[in-house]
Amino acid sequence: MRKLFILLLAVFMGVQFTSAQKETTAPVNQLIVVANHPGPVISKDIYGHFSEHLGTCIYGGLWVGRDSKIPNTEGLRNDVLFALREIKVPNLRWPGGCFADTYHWKDGIGPQSQRASIVNTHWGGVTEDNSFGTHEFMRLTELINCDAYINGNVGSGTVREMAEWVEYLTSDSDSPMTRLRKQNGREEPWKVRYFAIGNENWGCGGNMTADFYSDVMRQYSTYLNNYGGNRLYRVACGPSDYNYAWTETLMKDPGIRGRFQGLSIHYYSLVDGWNNKGSATEFGENEWFRTMNSNLQMDVIIKGHKAIMDRYDPQKTKGLVVDEWGNWFNVEPGTNPGFLYQQNTMRDAVTAAIHLNIFNQHADRVKVANLAQMVNVLQSVILTKDDKMVLTPTYHVFRMYRVHQEAKLLNTDLVCEDYEFQGRKIPAISASASVDNDGKVHISLANLNPSKDITLTCPVVGETFKTITGEVLTAGQMNAFNTFDKPEVVKPASFKGFKMKDGILTVTMPAKSVVVLELVK
Ligand code: AHR
Repeated sequence: MRKLFILLLAVFMGVQFTSAQKETTAPVNQLIVVANHPGPVISKDIYGHFSEHLGTCIYGGLWVGRDSKIPNTEGLRNDVLFALREIKVPNLRWPGGCFADTYHWKDGIGPQSQRASIVNTHWGGVTEDNSFGTHEFMRLTELINCDAYINGNVGSGTVREMAEWVEYLTSDSDSPMTRLRKQNGREEPWKVRYFAIGNENWGCGGNMTADFYSDVMRQYSTYLNNYGGNRLYRVACGPSDYNYAWTETLMKDPGIRGRFQGLSIHYYSLVDGWNNKGSATEFGENEWFRTMNSNLQMDVIIKGHKAIMDRYDPQKTKGLVVDEWGNWFNVEPGTNPGFLYQQNTMRDAVTAAIHLNIFNQHADRVKVANLAQMVNVLQSVILTKDDKMVLTPTYHVFRMYRVHQEAKLLNTDLVCEDYEFQGRKIPAISASASVDNDGKVHISLANLNPSKDITLTCPVVGETFKTITGEVLTAGQMNAFNTFDKPEVVKPASFKGFKMKDGILTVTMPAKSVVVLELVK
């Protein structure tokens, strides 16, 4: 039906093209934006982030401790807090990742000097002193004004331990857990929106089969109570990549799917498989192309899992929670292999744009997504070193795209040229559009071709607009990146490469760029 509507519209627009620009043939690159039929709300939570006890994401990246010389608010570094507020982080996932299924939350409460130390077996074998725990995490969410997304321990924890954590966090009754919380300085319960029942339980979270996990999840979720006004959005561990069988098992039985609100999925983009991840900064067009190609698989994967979910949940009451995504490259030379520290280039910016466009386009089913990870790990938005901080190209995309949060998705139809490399082809453009509560339309575009500017004809149907402004993120080199010494090599600029004539917008996107346009009535 949607396709038919867009087809009719395209024919109609074709007539308009013919009368307005008689001499032109059909444009090669065309994005039709239907501005007067808004679709589903784009959940702000697909712009979420992920912070694991891994490398220097927490320690050094977010948390420096109250006694640090680095300016901080109750131990959380001010420069990072400020930058995170700017991108409107909607939710933050913690404490892992694989770490979550080794984490025992009671180790991380109470006086800091008395907290138990553990060894972080997954990530570098370093000693974890638990100085960043529940109170510190919840304070962080308050300071950046986002929802908490807590990942419980199924792999090595107990039902009681998880149930008590939820009680400690959210209950306002008089109980041993709430008394303990008050004793530790927090009178009022917190609100916790998202709570995951394990992480990657098919792998680091216990090596379970889908059937076994389903039973375990049913058991654990039974004891995750909604206290007072708090309503948990329970996230069941879903598959990674193309493991459709796992989704089928979790979705087919009403007794299983009735126990969660969201099903997670993880997908990392790799240049050439897990054994050949390549460098984050030293790469050529071959690696660029392979990365883009891998990024686009996110759409294929979502469609596959969505099809299964649609069969058992046509009302779309269950959300797909893409709570780990991003580019995974080799660690920077000389850094701890267990810390997953990688630089971030213009390639990562285009990756972010592609993913966020895909999530927007699947707003009917994708309700939460979390970039891996927030600071100093994998495709981070921020890098820190001692008292220095730098914003990555990926950060700038999140800032530019924040306009889509809670806006309504607009129907679009994209026809575009291919970006071809050594005989392989992928679409050269990625796009999505939304309308916000003030009626402003935002169109976000990425040009995947690293060496060709592309002109896109963009009929915006159903509304007329008085003002258009734009922002662009691009760079001279595809591997351009920001450093502590040169923090503004890749930064957004005002964009003027468009014109509007007879309701038809024409946009010329620079090679390897991300563009966001704002159309105001
Ligand atoms: O983000 C790094 C790791 O990747 C996470 O801990 C795990 O869930 C995934 O395999």
